[in-house]
Amino acid sequence: MAKFFEAKSSKHNKYRSNKSAPLKMGKNSQKIEALPITRLSDDGRGISSYKGKTIFIDNALPGEEVEANVLFDKSNYGEGLAIAISSESTSRRQPQCQYFTQCGGCHLQHLDIQAQQHAKLENVLNKLKYVSHITPENILPVLSGDEYNYRQRARLSVVFDKKGVSLGFRKKNSKEIISIKQCEVLLPEFNQLIEPLYDWLVKHRPSVTHIEFSGRKGSVGIVIRHIKTIELSLRKKLGEKLKNYAVACWFQEKKASSLTDTNDLLVAPELDYNLQVILEDGVREVSFLYHPQDFIQTNAVVNNKMLNRAIDFLQAKKDHNILDLFCGVGNFSVPLSLACKHVIGVEGSDNMVNKAVKNAELNACANLSFKKANLFDEDVVKHLFKNVGKQKIESIILDPPRAGAKVVCQYIKKIYPKKILYVSCEPNTFARDAKVLVENGYVLKKMSAMDMFPQTYHNEVISLFVLKKQYSNSSKRELS
Ligand SMILES: C[S@@+](CC[C@H](N)C(=O)[O-])C[C@H]1O[C@@H](n2cnc3c(N)ncnc32)[C@H](O)[C@@H]1O
Repeated sequence: MAKFFEAKSSKHNKYRSNKSAPLKMGKNSQKIEALPITRLSDDGRGISSYKGKTIFIDNALPGEEVEANVLFDKSNYGEGLAIAISSESTSRRQPQCQYFTQCGGCHLQHLDIQAQQHAKLENVLNKLKYVSHITPENILPVLSGDEYNYRQRARLSVVFDKKGVSLGFRKKNSKEIISIKQCEVLLPEFNQLIEPLYDWLVKHRPSVTHIEFSGRKGSVGIVIRHIKTIELSLRKKLGEKLKNYAVACWFQEKKASSLTDTNDLLVAPELDYNLQVILEDGVREVSFLYHPQDFIQTNAVVNNKMLNRAIDFLQAKKDHNILDLFCGVGNFSVPLSLACKHVIGVEGSDNMVNKAVKNAELNACANLSFKKANLFDEDVVKHLFKNVGKQKIESIILDPPRAGAKVVCQYIKKIYPKKILYVSCEPNTFARDAKVLVENGYVLKKMSAMDMFPQTYHNEVISLFVLKKQYSNSSKRELS
């Protein structure tokens, strides 16, 4: 049996890949041999079973057989660490990043990309099948882009201590920061800023806690978040350091609602991105403006593919009204408005509602309206559906945060749209909400995985639910 941590020329390495507290393998741990790994957990650990108990094992991949130290201090499951691999997966590979064994940003670089995508899709399908008793009628190919250098949003932490300055991500299972010189999944335009930023931090030790990156090639912005005032001279020094890079630099003191620039002047910063929208009569470019702290999708290539898949799934017509819930800055609403009669976008953040309105104007789209509403609040959702239900809503787009869209799904029969496009970033809440939709008369017609966050355990899908005929024919809308 190959000793896991001793393998000199082996492809594998010492890495932890979960998000729970560090495992303390004391005398209570038990060494177990020949544990077969059946699948990958939500947080990227290998799952095995021993004497009827499920075990989550760090550093173990599906298809492998491992020797592990296991702790059974929880009543219904065990947690372990693979110490040797007796049978290695053919999908195991050398991680590309030098920090992978310590950094908490990525979890799956040791698994090849096809196997990552397969494992994530299996995970969602299992949740749907075993939790919600649903099998999608059609599974379409995964939507993917580059496996590295894709992140167009990131937040790095800054810590000053006796040892010096750390600029980077949290270590695995720790609150400590690992200082990095570059990150394999960030855009190259962000990576080239790390060194000058680090130099400035080391030299001047300003009270910075985080640096947020956002943007695309040619339009990058950074927000320097700090606790105490940063003097004009120091701001100018940073401006000088960054002058040869295409980057706008803004400052945010504590949680101030406004940002300032390197001249210490109040600013209203904006970045932009474009999408190529495939419509029946050709391709149209749609532009978006956003504030650097607004939500935008992390992966530009996958976002564009997702949008066009949404258009394909919804098959909008010129007499259709569409309700885009959790609409952000109008990422779906504005392009969809080109294909239908009217789009109503609903979003919880005032700032993003304002940006969505601006983005509709920017693209000369007049057939949109936006509302601010808390879509987790039952009364708000009932009220919203009562109002919008007066006009026939053909389709709904649901793109909620990780908590899902439970309340919206519970009240869906107030409007009974024919189609629901559900984009999920959390398989557990997706399976939960899918069950509610199916109980209300929908079938899960189509689904595809989206590799929005390669190398991490984050798992996204796009899916289409269609109302069964007997529900759409009986005018069952409950408008009261
Ligand atoms: C996954 S993002 C999707 C945004 C947009 N659809 C896009 O593609 O860029 C989820 C959005 O839900 C919004 N949100 C979070 N909680 C909300 C709530 N309780 N009510 C309404 N919107 C909420 C967030 O501000 C964010 O814009």
